[in-house]
Amino acid sequence: MARWLVVGAAGMLGTDLVEVLGARGHEVSGVDLPAVDILDPVSCAAVVDGHEVVVNCAAYTAVDAAETDEARAFAVNAVGADNLARAVAASGGSLVQVSTDYVVAGDGTVPWPADSPVAPASAYGRTKAAGEWAVRAECPRAWVVRTAWLYGAHGRNIPTTVARLARERETFGFVADQVGQPTWTVDLADGIARIVESGAPYGIWHGTNAGETSWHGLAQAVLEELGLDPARVSPIGTDAYPLPAPRPSYSVLAHDMWAAHGLEPLPHWRDALHRAAPVLFPEGAG
Ligand SMILES: NC(=O)c1ccc[n+]([C@@H]2O[C@H](COP(=O)([O-])OP(=O)(O)OC[C@H]3O[C@@H](n4cnc5c(N)ncnc54)[C@H](OP(=O)(O)O)[C@@H]3O)[C@@H](O)[C@H]2O)c1
Repeated sequence: MARWLVVGAAGMLGTDLVEVLGARGHEVSGVDLPAVDILDPVSCAAVVDGHEVVVNCAAYTAVDAAETDEARAFAVNAVGADNLARAVAASGGSLVQVSTDYVVAGDGTVPWPADSPVAPASAYGRTKAAGEWAVRAECPRAWVVRTAWLYGAHGRNIPTTVARLARERETFGFVADQVGQPTWTVDLADGIARIVESGAPYGIWHGTNAGETSWHGLAQAVLEELGLDPARVSPIGTDAYPLPAPRPSYSVLAHDMWAAHGLEPLPHWRDALHRAAPVLFPEGAG
């Protein structure tokens, strides 16, 4: 059992990661702003001291705001990640850097392997790609774990938004021409723990639930979990719901590294949503 530190522990993934690591018997501490600011290298060095594994869940995650605030997003997602990577490297520990499907071009038709070229289309994706590069350059003992379409009980996410819309409206639309992998924070936390515990090689890993669907498919599945009619959500095109940041049309990530290193990939997204439903929707359709 290792001594772990979760940075960004008050966020959606960080909160579940602290809980999952503790349940697996690890000694785990969690820190977030204002106790640590990853923009400050001195603050990073002070918090990582004495920890064997550090997970960086701290990030600027406002994808649309990043289009007009790229400097701030870059500061947190690239410079902050770099500061933490230097501190971990100096301390002799290992680092898990959480990254995103938005670093790949996202216009494919088959799942993107871990060694796909990085070609982000959005400001957020550029800053996360820079963070990946910084971590790999500065910390020789680093796993970069890319995830996507995250949801969990401790943050804003699409499944809980769908549940709210279902309470407010009889019918609504969700985008059907963007395909990805809805991923439960608890399954990702478990996957991160298993990568590290197994001593799997450092490098780029894809931490997403298996299978694939569109936002419309996910919204229909949420309605099914709530015992509501999935036909209440209709498919719409990306052009009917314009957003500041370009979204990938197909950013499904391949799980090649898991099989290659004898690890079970994360479960199927539909199974994950079913297991998550009691904590995501404690009041049911309400
Ligand atoms: N959510 C998704 O759908 C998604 C998809 C793909 C990848 N990811 C990646 O997954 C990771 C976790 O995402 P999440 O959704 O759990 O994020 P989140 O809920 O936004 O949590 C991020 C945490 O980092 C903190 N933070 C921000 N700036 C910081 C700084 N300078 N120093 C220390 N802490 C700071 C935030 O504090 P404040 O709230 O006070 O700013 C927040 O508590 C991120 O790396 C994200 O890029 C997320």
